[in-house]
Amino acid sequence: MLDPLKHLQWCEPMSDPPKSREWNAAEYHRLSAPQFQWGLRVLGELRLRGDECLLDAGCGTGKLTRILLENLPRGRVVGLDVSRNMVVHARQNLQPDFGGRVRFVAADLVALPFRNCFDGVFSTASFHWVLDHNALFHNLYEALRPAGWLHAQCGGGPNLARLRQRVRALSQTAEFSNWLGKFPEPWFFSDPEGGASHLRAAGFERVETSIEEASFNVASHQEFQQYLRTFVLHRHLELLPNETLRSAFVEKLADASAHDDPPWTLDYWRLNLRAHKPESPLAY
Ligand SMILES: C[S@@+](CC[C@H](N)C(=O)[O-])C[C@H]1O[C@@H](n2cnc3c(N)ncnc32)[C@H](O)[C@@H]1O
Repeated sequence: MLDPLKHLQWCEPMSDPPKSREWNAAEYHRLSAPQFQWGLRVLGELRLRGDECLLDAGCGTGKLTRILLENLPRGRVVGLDVSRNMVVHARQNLQPDFGGRVRFVAADLVALPFRNCFDGVFSTASFHWVLDHNALFHNLYEALRPAGWLHAQCGGGPNLARLRQRVRALSQTAEFSNWLGKFPEPWFFSDPEGGASHLRAAGFERVETSIEEASFNVASHQEFQQYLRTFVLHRHLELLPNETLRSAFVEKLADASAHDDPPWTLDYWRLNLRAHKPESPLAY
């Protein structure tokens, strides 16, 4: 069996990650209290021995990776994220405190360099950014040891349906259509049945999926715009050619949301995914 923390030469940060995969890590870290709270609930459901080797798939700035490590006094975690900004931020924050028990790597979840190495995969708020869930779950299955588990949550079902409808309509207006008119949504929001079927197709068993509402409000027009820029619409905004248009885009969405009751609500839905790799996996 391979020790993932000793084989990271396979997945050193990509030398030139495409810009469209990047995040503003400092802003994410500052504003991600809702994601942290969702993640803490998911993490609280794990039944850990304390010596596992886990993958935090889409670890972001490592806030939850830290809590995982605190719950694994004899264990280790690999935090993986496609955004180099996120990986650098997480590494700077956590490596001094956890030393050799943690490694961070920049890699794509649909091209994972791991085989047969993790006791469990933990992931929150990330899988909906991966469009190919067949490849995603196949890779995670391969990365797990026999009897390994996957415990994850991501956006799903009607996630952000009201906001997305407004984004689609605004993208078609004369002001923005040159750049956004043909831009497909950068997310895949699976429903519980679809998620279960992707997991089973990858080879997982004891699959459980469910969906829950998780909407929340931000405090002001300004905060709503900051939130959209950092968490939801960064892929859209990087296609717009200047800051004037970027500001106009998020401002119009905040204006529309100001009339909602209550205002500035983000209509989030979360998809829960639990599954196990068989103890004696079939050889493909
Ligand atoms: C909303 S953040 C969640 C971060 C953290 N798990 C949390 O709950 O705070 C989503 C993360 O998924 C990462 N991500 C998106 N697509 C990815 C992919 N294909 N491979 C690896 N990471 C990906 C993003 O770079 C981002 O850091």
